Amino acid sequence: MIDSAMHDQYGQRDATFQAAGGEAGVCQLVNDFYDIMSSNPNYRRIYDWHPDGNSARDKLARFLCGWMGGPRRYQETYGPINIPNAHRHLWVTNLEKDMWLNCMREALARQNYPKVLEVYLVDQLSAPAEMIRRTCETRNARHLPGHLSRTLDKSKKGH
Ligand code: HEM
Repeated sequence: MIDSAMHDQYGQRDATFQAAGGEAGVCQLVNDFYDIMSSNPNYRRIYDWHPDGNSARDKLARFLCGWMGGPRRYQETYGPINIPNAHRHLWVTNLEKDMWLNCMREALARQNYPKVLEVYLVDQLSAPAEMIRRTCETRNARHLPGHLSRTLDKSKKGH
């Protein structure tokens, strides 16, 4: 959990984007993120889900610029995006969500950011990551064979 002072510091206009080093800073962060994901076997599972080529780096860097309050670079090139829907074809459970967030933690630690900014960003990114996990869970539950899907529903209701 983070305190409201951090929200005041980073949540206004493009304060987060500027603190992260603007476009160059966000690109560096995303390059480190994907370098770590591609080289650390702990993240192999989610790395293997990515299509070949560098489009994932470009897409994430552009998206994060706007998400941090900077220019909406993703939409300029790729059009509108809904983050949970963009992941609904994947099987994201808590395991993959934690892999993604841990990889981001490692990438953030490589930047020259104040510790409070690192903590703030992981905290803020946890919200869309959780929305992705829930969207994938709902979608995948619908695609399970009937008996498994019903078992899942029951366990959610505490049966
Ligand atoms: C929860 C864990 C996450 C996993 C396992 C994950 C994994 C992936 C994968 C495998 C792709 C490539 C999909 C494809 O092209 O088929 C992708 C795309 C993308 N991800 Fe994530 N992601 C996660 C969380 C996030 C978060 C939290 C954000 C942003 C806040 C994000 C932003 C994006 C963006 C912008 C794209 C490009 C989407 C597109 O243009 O279609 N992801 N992600």
